[in-house]
Amino acid sequence: MSAGERFTVALIGASGLLGRAVANELASAASTQPWRVVRTARSRADAASVKLDLLDHDAVRAFLGEVAPDAIVVAAAERRPDICENDPALARALNVDALNVIATEARALGAWVLSISTDYVFDGTSPPYLPDDAPAPLNAYGQSKLDGERALLASDPRSCVLRLPLLYGPFTGWNESAVTSLTPAIVKSADAANPPASMDAWATRYPTFTPDVAVVIRGMLEQHAKGATISGIAQWSGDEPMTKFDIAERIARALNVDAKLIAQRTPTDATPRPRDCHLDSGRLEALGIGRRTPFDIAIGGLLANCPDVSSQ
Ligand SMILES: NC(=O)c1ccc[n+]([C@@H]2O[C@H](COP(=O)([O-])OP(=O)(O)OC[C@H]3O[C@@H](n4cnc5c(N)ncnc54)[C@H](OP(=O)(O)O)[C@@H]3O)[C@@H](O)[C@H]2O)c1
Repeated sequence: MSAGERFTVALIGASGLLGRAVANELASAASTQPWRVVRTARSRADAASVKLDLLDHDAVRAFLGEVAPDAIVVAAAERRPDICENDPALARALNVDALNVIATEARALGAWVLSISTDYVFDGTSPPYLPDDAPAPLNAYGQSKLDGERALLASDPRSCVLRLPLLYGPFTGWNESAVTSLTPAIVKSADAANPPASMDAWATRYPTFTPDVAVVIRGMLEQHAKGATISGIAQWSGDEPMTKFDIAERIARALNVDAKLIAQRTPTDATPRPRDCHLDSGRLEALGIGRRTPFDIAIGGLLANCPDVSSQ
């Protein structure tokens, strides 16, 4: 980039759980990095974002051609495993085909793509996982994200995939995250009239706070802006292993409710899920990129700011 030119980031999927945190992080860093950030959303587009449906490939091409970004962060996806399992064509259309269109257009524009992927590309049998370990997804969601990774990196090896585990962060509804979605059952179980709540104690997760991931993404964008582009596969993860049962106990403690929880020691999900996909974050750590907010502090802050928790 020549002096005086502005670094432009297209943030695709800025209305989602992760996209909002990234948008906030880039906006709050605006005084030190005068970047232009163009956000997109689909059903939740607002005055601050461009409405863009990734299934409309012509619209995607037109948007990118008009914005001419230096970097494209793709946080839009179909990330609900049960929906992907029941409709693999939809999962493919968003997680593979749309990413392919973005990748092709980006290559033509010389834009760097940073696309978000998942720990579900692994089968969860031999953690921790390095970026180059052999993927073996157990479900359609993981397969579609793996196919998307491969399509992107085949299109332009300069681009980057950032794999993440279970996310939680500022939310607009309990079900936005598999962490906060436990809360209504936890609160209900504390009522003497209700039965205990059963919580998965089989699978180990590493809940990762979206504002921390946003710091990681900002760091990766800064690397690209200064010509030290990170290419290939990178991974980021929280470092506190927990089952959903453990998470539920911590949420109950944060809410100060006397929850009645039962540890479910065998998987009950209709869609197969991996047992432990701990992602090694060493590549980004070695670059000095990253931040980890302790889970109890992060979840405490989120729940304290949630006025209707006692009405659940
Ligand atoms: N959530 C997790 O626990 C988790 C874990 C690991 C990896 N990831 C990955 O992290 C990324 C972000 O996930 P998230 O949890 O933030 O997802 P999310 O909350 O479900 O948000 C999805 C985003 O995609 C947009 N979108 C959906 N369909 C679209 C379409 N047809 N055209 C354009 N935009 C569309 C949504 O826009 P509207 O809402 O405006 O329609 C929204 O901005 C995904 O790649 C996901 O696979 C998530």
